[in-house]
Amino acid sequence: MTTKQQELVRTTFAQLVPHEGRLADLLYQELFRLEPNAKALFRGDLPEQQKKLMRMLRVAVENIDDPAQLQPMLYNLGMIHKSYGIEPHHFISFGAALNSAIRTVLQEKFTSEVEESWSAAYQYFVTTMKNFPHSDEQIQLPHN
Ligand code: HEM
Repeated sequence: MTTKQQELVRTTFAQLVPHEGRLADLLYQELFRLEPNAKALFRGDLPEQQKKLMRMLRVAVENIDDPAQLQPMLYNLGMIHKSYGIEPHHFISFGAALNSAIRTVLQEKFTSEVEESWSAAYQYFVTTMKNFPHSDEQIQLPHN
């Protein structure tokens, strides 16, 4: 993703923060419309989960240009999700739900450039959640 896209994600995230409760509501509403079966995966308190998601998104956006900080955190989050039984198609629906929620909250500020920037950011987050150690395998091995 380009520096300009990172900047756009940062500035629009700042505009989303005052509406984060609504953003999270819209996101989960759309996610469960697309993936009715995913609802059963959420065993804890949903409002609490919404807060955790928004906190994580904030950390990811703040560190979007700092892979050394961000990638281990996201990889850890990916491992946790794997243990919950989350499958690749869930991530596609989640991305679509996030896009739709951001569009609804930002309205006319959701330009195609903003949309592409968020899509690139989401792609980066999810790829890292799934793949991070593979790209760094040699560094991770203790006997190297
Ligand atoms: C970039 C994408 C995502 C982010 C940033 C994210 C973030 C989080 C965070 C921070 C937690 C809390 C983990 C903890 O308590 O330690 C969590 C839990 C969870 N996430 Fe995600 N998540 C993402 C994608 C997804 C997707 C695609 C699904 C499946 C539809 C999903 C389902 C869950 C479930 C079921 C839990 C456990 C909730 C519970 O305990 O009730 N997440 N997620």
